[in-house]
Amino acid sequence: MKPPSRANHPAQARAPQDNRALVAPVYQSVKFTFDNVAEAEKHNRGEREGFQYSRVANPTLRQLELTLAELQGRDACLVTASGVAAVNLPLLSLCRQGDHVILFAEMYQPTRYMVRRWLARFGVTHTMLSIEDTDAIERTLASVPTRLVIFETPSNPMLKVADIARITAAARAAGALTVLDNTFAGFHNHGQFDVDIFVHSLTKYASGHGDVMGGAIIASRDLIASMERDFVVLGATLDPHAAFLIQRGLKTYFVRIERQQRNALAVAQFLERHALVQRVHYPGLASHAQHALAQRQMKDAGSIVTFELADSVDPARFAESLELFAISASLGSTESLVQPGRLMRPRDLNEEERRWAGVTDRTIRLSIGIEDEEDLLSDLDQALKNK
Ligand SMILES: Cc1ncc(COP(=O)(O)O)c(C=O)c1O
Repeated sequence: MKPPSRANHPAQARAPQDNRALVAPVYQSVKFTFDNVAEAEKHNRGEREGFQYSRVANPTLRQLELTLAELQGRDACLVTASGVAAVNLPLLSLCRQGDHVILFAEMYQPTRYMVRRWLARFGVTHTMLSIEDTDAIERTLASVPTRLVIFETPSNPMLKVADIARITAAARAAGALTVLDNTFAGFHNHGQFDVDIFVHSLTKYASGHGDVMGGAIIASRDLIASMERDFVVLGATLDPHAAFLIQRGLKTYFVRIERQQRNALAVAQFLERHALVQRVHYPGLASHAQHALAQRQMKDAGSIVTFELADSVDPARFAESLELFAISASLGSTESLVQPGRLMRPRDLNEEERRWAGVTDRTIRLSIGIEDEEDLLSDLDQALKNK
């Protein structure tokens, strides 16, 4: 072989069968080969296992999919290039012209956009409710034929807790599918409920280090199979190296979650006692409106703490005075983050919906990291007092 040929057909260095890599190798390959045409045809007809093209399937992605499905307690998963791609696929794939969707004012803004602007162009109607108003959800499901209910709990950023048992029961009785964006609660929560489809942004707690984006759709094998063809042509495929990084982040998921939520509870309790804080929204506090519900349906109260500053504290100055909390969007990293209300204002909502969403200029959302608890409390204290 002459050098240009060798450079394109590199030597193979295979590990012996009994000498495997402890960490699975990254299959950073778009294409997979077969020894002969007959085998390739068998694969195309679905008559043998294997891989052909990474937009359709890839072993590194498959490994992550198997792990995530098991963590969420379902039997199948599709990983996607981002969290929004995971939210959008069930909406695009499962809704038809004339279908009706229920969604909530307290949801992630791009999810609202997808339903209200994009699906509306294709004749899908919707009803927007407040996630706190379970009676209205039940009434709507009983009176309007509905294809799908998409919801989040705890909600962002006000941490309202949805009554999953009542919502899923009402949806099941009405023949509607439920899609739960479980990004805030995590894979270790909510698997026991009769939710049809879980979606997650892997960008947050799964990867945990703020350096990679991804999403996941987790459901029964039949539901995943019904969306798979649409997924392949939409093309929001996760890159194998991103999948590898997410898989690496997942190894410390439970350790991080445990530490982050312990820090978050300490922060919530500290802020609740603080004279310069008006009110704290954290499902782990007895003062939270749905504390009992949260305790019943979640294993922990999460690592987001939202609160209202006293009138005498300037929100921008407070955020800028913090040393350990970076002013940044997103959440779930090992380092703590802060978002003042002005950066989270929902611009697409009417007055009533904005009231449901509940964000004011005095609202502060904290994403709590794995730093030392005392350091976090003293940083918050100095920033509150730095008027
Ligand atoms: C609840 C929720 N769902 C979905 C997403 C979208 O995830 P991504 O940014 O990975 O697309 C986010 C991002 O902030 C989110 O908070």
